[in-house]
Amino acid sequence: MTIESVEPIAESMPRAAGAMPGPIHMEAARAAPATLKAGVLVVGAFSDGKLPSSSAAVDSASKGRLSALIKRGDLDEKAGSTLLLYDVPGTAAQRVLVVSLGPSGEFGDKAFRDAVSGAAKALGAGKAGNAAVTLAAIDVPGRSEAWRMQEASRLLADGLYRFAAPKTNGRKKPEQGARDIALIGSENGSEEIDAAVRRGAAIAEGMALAKDLGNLPANVCNPEYFAETARRLGKELPIEVEVLEREDMAKLGMHAALSVGRASDNPCKLVVMRYRGGGDGAKPIVLVGKGVTFDTGGISLKPGEDLDMMKYDMCGAAAVYGAIEAAAHLELPIDVVVLVNAVENMPGGNASRPGDVVTSMSGQTIEILNTDAEGRLGLCDVLTYAERFEPECVVDVATLTGACVIALGSVASGLYANDDALADELLACGAETGDRAWRMPLWDEYQEQLKSNFADMSNLGGRPAGSVTAACFLARFTKKYRWAHLDIAGTNAVAGDAKGATGRPVPMLAQFLLQRSARAAELRVAH
Ligand code: BES
Ligand code: MN
Ligand code: ZN
Repeated sequence: MTIESVEPIAESMPRAAGAMPGPIHMEAARAAPATLKAGVLVVGAFSDGKLPSSSAAVDSASKGRLSALIKRGDLDEKAGSTLLLYDVPGTAAQRVLVVSLGPSGEFGDKAFRDAVSGAAKALGAGKAGNAAVTLAAIDVPGRSEAWRMQEASRLLADGLYRFAAPKTNGRKKPEQGARDIALIGSENGSEEIDAAVRRGAAIAEGMALAKDLGNLPANVCNPEYFAETARRLGKELPIEVEVLEREDMAKLGMHAALSVGRASDNPCKLVVMRYRGGGDGAKPIVLVGKGVTFDTGGISLKPGEDLDMMKYDMCGAAAVYGAIEAAAHLELPIDVVVLVNAVENMPGGNASRPGDVVTSMSGQTIEILNTDAEGRLGLCDVLTYAERFEPECVVDVATLTGACVIALGSVASGLYANDDALADELLACGAETGDRAWRMPLWDEYQEQLKSNFADMSNLGGRPAGSVTAACFLARFTKKYRWAHLDIAGTNAVAGDAKGATGRPVPMLAQFLLQRSARAAELRVAH
């Protein structure tokens, strides 16, 4: 990736395609752990000394090396902490990575995920190019082997993600860290287990796309870059791509959306992608993503502190790109439409002003009381546009409000829905993948806060319940279909030393598409 000192124009766009340093190869395997000739063999151990059977085999082959070091107290109690052992007798691997599973009495989803993520971290920093991982062979209460394999596959591949930052010095060699992973399951493996590993890897790839788009600077990842990335996906996968320009949006009457990008030299776009896996007459699941490639706040300019984080204001769009990529990759038997209004929110002589009134595509008028509440202005017109697809349901994903960060922090995304079954389904997909959401209310009482003297509504609900009133604004445009909204302002990225995109909520969305696919396949068999 070359970054130009001037704003890139479409023709000289620096390409960062494949920002990942080479793909990760993930495969299910069945073998006795001690006989595996890997660069590193990964085994789990409970901090109280209990060993799962896959690790007990390594322990006895090595004449008690594992149990000895646990007895000595070398293994931390925290699930995911690791110890690297060299030249372990009785094993064919060059190294053995021992991963703490925490106390045996507390083992569950969280400790399992922490253990796998801890292993991924060590594997990413280590010297071994290939690894044999036995963690998914360990029983997790209430979970199937397929669940363990899918989760382990995703968490390992995602944990090995690295953004190829354009640094002249200190850039990690692409070949560093494990790129080739064998996931050891129980001996009686099956096609179903292989498929679970492929699902996990495909979700991680979708997350990697979302992370790359998020981590790229806004002078590279601008609206045109979103259009280009869609066109690239369209070449690599069976995805139809259409890009609507400003003039097309004006013809559609999308004046709320158009008001956001007015002052930017990078014209906004509406990207439409469609994956057709559902066959004739399939109604699509429509995924809408907020794609503000940089949010200055516009004339209602944001304060300067941490303003660079506003390059992540397109992470909703990035997540729906990742989700459709995973769906197409896995050839799911459903239709998926992705809609993204890619736009930059800038101040300028042509910017919209607080107090401006615009007419949305739905015909409803909006008084723009704050140009920093731009996400809902873009989304409302895209949500109206979604009607023409006669959707099965619509899910929008947006870094919509700072208030959601105050309410839920970085643990859960805020979930809103006008349909209880859809909400429950998404919550369950969050629990299944550890990419959790928490349901918030859309009650009519909150609509009061959007009253305007000069238009049908204002785009500003005031400080109380800011995430709720933003969702209530969107609800005025989604009455014609089943709809859910995910406010990911707290979950999409982390600041500080580990600054970066998280790839959330790709796991939840991909799981949702997988479950809808399973349902579609069942219906097809029944007919
Ligand atoms: N992109 C921001 C929301 C945001 C804030 C995302 C912090 C991630 C971290 C959004 O466009 C915004 O500015 N929202 C305003 C809305 C307000 C003006 C009603 C906010 O949250 O302050
Ligand atoms: Mn804003
Ligand atoms: Zn924003």
